[in-house]
Amino acid sequence: MLPTIARENDAVVMIDQRKLPAQEIYVRCKTAPEVARAIKTMVIRGAPAIGVAAAMGIALGVRTSKSTGTQKLAAEFYKICELMASTRPTAVNLFWAIERMKRSFAAGAEAGESVAQLQDRLDREAGAIHDEDVASCRAMGAFGAEVVPADARILTHCNAGALATAGYGTALGVIRGAVEAGKRVAVFADETRPFLQGARLTAWELVRDGIQTTVITDNMAGALMRQDKVNFVVVGADRIAANGDTANKIGTYGVAVLAREHNIPFYVAAPLSTIDLRTPDGQHIPIEERNPREVTHVGGSRLAPEGALVWNPAFDVTPHHLIAGIITERGILRAPYTESLKLAFETIEVANRTP
Ligand code: MRU
Repeated sequence: MLPTIARENDAVVMIDQRKLPAQEIYVRCKTAPEVARAIKTMVIRGAPAIGVAAAMGIALGVRTSKSTGTQKLAAEFYKICELMASTRPTAVNLFWAIERMKRSFAAGAEAGESVAQLQDRLDREAGAIHDEDVASCRAMGAFGAEVVPADARILTHCNAGALATAGYGTALGVIRGAVEAGKRVAVFADETRPFLQGARLTAWELVRDGIQTTVITDNMAGALMRQDKVNFVVVGADRIAANGDTANKIGTYGVAVLAREHNIPFYVAAPLSTIDLRTPDGQHIPIEERNPREVTHVGGSRLAPEGALVWNPAFDVTPHHLIAGIITERGILRAPYTESLKLAFETIEVANRTP
């Protein structure tokens, strides 16, 4: 499996996704601010992977802290959490992971743990977030495989693969699950302007796995569907609001509208850590706007003339009525999402409750 991110004693190591597929370079972040910078500059990207990186970055920051007392350590810890939270606004997994690290720290502090004990518990928590993410992706893969047609021609957008998670992937996890279940699978990967996650990362992952992959530019999806060459769409998510509205990479909404027009089922695959019941609907999801240069330039070359204005939202929102189902590690959630999403969390609470 692809090594997206790993923790070493004195560093968080991640593959530099800006350089793929041309170069496979690993970046070693030796401080929490270096991890934060790696998230912000997209060395690592993809909602679950960002969450794992933040958790590992927080644990690293606390591990390398010079504080000898727990009070000073706590002040440092909360500052690092703030720094991580300021990196990217849309993917809720980031904030979910930070909250989880805060809960763990607070429990340790309340129990009167020493600096060394607090460091150990944060390392363990970050490791658990990593491992649980891989397990969730595997579960999504198994559930999702059931709804993939036996002879599947799947369109996906952006990269929701091993690179976007701790491993295996969400949308690509469903594709991998279908292949493992013995289905015939061919994939169309939208190139995903402007950052080209589809052409660079999704195609790279799938080709490595020996899965037939055709790269198309984003504006080709409609023609492809009209020619009956797609019978299933699956994408990842950065934040799913309580009513099922889903933020994902810019261009996803267009794909969903096209899928509806052509009667093709449009699925979202995401772990529960991507579902944000505190955000009522898509209108309330903060959408990151990125540097105009990503649009005006390709590599070092300028495409658009100086003086042209640029709009560069990194994500858009697909309204829930266009979504056939949300594939999670707990099963496939269906409309009405306001009920099914809430229920998915309640089931977990019941399972966690000790009698
Ligand atoms: O800007 P990015 O590359 O972080 O955006 C990633 C996406 O939109 C993915 O589709 C999403 O995070 C799901 S990843 C399993």
